[in-house]
Amino acid sequence: MFISFEGIDGSGKSTQLVLLRDWLEERGHKTITVREPGATALSESIREILLSNRQSITPSAELLLFSAARVQLVEHIIAPALTEGRIVLCDRYVDSTTAYQGFGRQLTMADVAACNRLATQGVMPTVTLFIDVPYDQAQLRMQFHPAAGEPDRMERSGRAFFERVRTGYLDIAAQEPERCHVVDGLRERAEIHHDILNIVVPALVRCGLEKP
Ligand SMILES: Nc1ncnc2c1ncn2[C@@H]1O[C@H](COP(=O)(O)OP(=O)(O)O)[C@@H](O)[C@H]1O
Ligand SMILES: [Mg+2]
Repeated sequence: MFISFEGIDGSGKSTQLVLLRDWLEERGHKTITVREPGATALSESIREILLSNRQSITPSAELLLFSAARVQLVEHIIAPALTEGRIVLCDRYVDSTTAYQGFGRQLTMADVAACNRLATQGVMPTVTLFIDVPYDQAQLRMQFHPAAGEPDRMERSGRAFFERVRTGYLDIAAQEPERCHVVDGLRERAEIHHDILNIVVPALVRCGLEKP
């Protein structure tokens, strides 16, 4: 089973991923957590290039770099972990590309879809949790984050960009309601976690990993 977390930076993805992972592990499930871009040596190197403010990157180059990082992660980590029967928890996945490079950078959707097909190798999440928080609120949370530093290259893209990204996520959720769930991220951590369990537990049952 494969669960991905989506949303803009500061929406609470990493917080909710850890809460879900701890819950799953306590119930005896074997999980593996990965972040995008990253998790393999190559993908972490690409992450550094993508997030660095040292050079500019054209939107198409950005699409290809994210896709390269993803396919390495899928082939080396995600696909083998799924074969072993683990629950894969992924902090961002293919919907980030549709939302950020498609809606945000306004690249042609046919190009984005072609890259996504190649990058995922057809490996799609069972469940995607889109944690929806308005840009201003996410910005505010990031300022108080203990590890807050200078905004990275992606974070410098500005309000209009992030509003398009949010529209993109909502569009994906409207098109694929079975897989992609919108979670209201403007509440207490525990309440959001509870909502997420209400989505994930039925999926675990469907996958035969929990009893009805
Ligand atoms: N529901 C919440 N309410 C208020 N603050 C939150 C909530 N969830 C997370 N945070 C805080 O907001 C910041 C960003 O959360 P994080 O999980 O790192 O987001 P992301 O991984 O999406 O960037 C962190 O400081 C975190 O502690
Ligand atoms: Mg995070």
